[in-house]
Amino acid sequence: MKHIISKKSFRLVGSSKVPGDKSISHRALIITSMCIGQSKIKGLLESEDVFATMNALKKLGVKIEKSNEYWFVNGVGLFGFKEPIDYLDLGNSGTGARLILGAIMGSNIIANLKGDISLSKRPMDRILTPLKMMGAKLISSNNEKLPLTIKGPKEVFPINYSSKISSAQIKSSILLSGLAASGTTVFKEPNESRNHTEKMLSYLGANIQSKTLKFGGYRVELKGNPVLKGGNIFVPCDPSSAAFLIVAAVICPESKIELHNIMINKGRDGLFKTLKEMGAKIKIFNKKNIGGEEIATIIAEYSQLKGISVSSKRAPSMIDEYPILSIAASCANGKTTMHGISELRVKESDRIKIMSNGLVKAGVKTIEKPESLTIYGSEVAGGCTIDSELDHRIAMSFLILGLISKKPIKVLRPSTIQSSFPNFFKTMIELGANFVKA
Ligand code: S3P
Repeated sequence: MKHIISKKSFRLVGSSKVPGDKSISHRALIITSMCIGQSKIKGLLESEDVFATMNALKKLGVKIEKSNEYWFVNGVGLFGFKEPIDYLDLGNSGTGARLILGAIMGSNIIANLKGDISLSKRPMDRILTPLKMMGAKLISSNNEKLPLTIKGPKEVFPINYSSKISSAQIKSSILLSGLAASGTTVFKEPNESRNHTEKMLSYLGANIQSKTLKFGGYRVELKGNPVLKGGNIFVPCDPSSAAFLIVAAVICPESKIELHNIMINKGRDGLFKTLKEMGAKIKIFNKKNIGGEEIATIIAEYSQLKGISVSSKRAPSMIDEYPILSIAASCANGKTTMHGISELRVKESDRIKIMSNGLVKAGVKTIEKPESLTIYGSEVAGGCTIDSELDHRIAMSFLILGLISKKPIKVLRPSTIQSSFPNFFKTMIELGANFVKA
């Protein structure tokens, strides 16, 4: 597929199925691989990113199979990964690459990792620095980026590490490595990032404690060498994928959609809060706790939005949602400024720059600064072509913008959407979106 054209649409209605959560799917595969015994996973996201992680684990000697709706993982323990014969190719997935590097630390093996053009540009020093402190030897010919070679240590050292960045990927990589250490690993970050690793490790038998610190910050402490036993894992629906459908309904006149089993973990619900502050009619109800995560039904309908100032404190709970929030902001009355978002510059693309440039092409006024983006809501002219830059969230965001633009928006290289939301095109068409594939 070369491109998708998105044309003016209204009355998006219906109830859609949102795929499984990407963060939890990666963790479900990686952490159950480090368990003793078999685990059974329900609701796994079957997307390119998750398959990249799964294939890497298979090359590391883990048996993973599907039967009916379940995925079965036969864990090899904390020290049991086998030395892979060829490259572990993590494709587009930063989560896969960073978490696997931590997970294999206990196995005293040499592994070569690579990724696609987007992943090869992303910083890895943020995890290579602590992993070296824990004993890893690392070789990269690409300035501490992929491709790289890791040699696991004979013995993993526990560390006490304060990260300047709030990042679940840094935290998870260190904690997964810390599982193999003989001692206690401590990780601190300025604000609590998503806590799926802590929850899953605790559920599978690790001794892990976390707390918010009195004078700011978050601290997690993990005792090394636990006995992790395989179990049953339920993957709830991904709030970051739901975000695209919700914003589409909020900005397209006469729309009303209903989504079920959406995870509303406090580390992931920032977009819903922000949209409500902008005046969006979003109802979150029927809350339930399944497999340790809170899920709910969400109804979203067409709303008049107003521009707001989004504090940097919101960033950890909606770090992946700024591209689609920028689309909502383009349709709001007045200006929206998103503060403290410099981390967006090192995602699958430089999301501040790519969103800003794309919106300007579509006739929306923006101001881009190193750590913030301001968007002036207006009528959207459209009539432009946007390259996905191999960033799934950029592709989906501009396709949603096309639904309310005066003239269509064409998105190039849309197959990157396969990394997180394989049924996006079909789901949007079923809701009534005017998308054309070519
Ligand atoms: C993720 C954490 C976030 C997020 C990414 C998934 C995870 O990255 O952007 O899409 O699953 O841990 P950072 O932790 O680097 O902010």
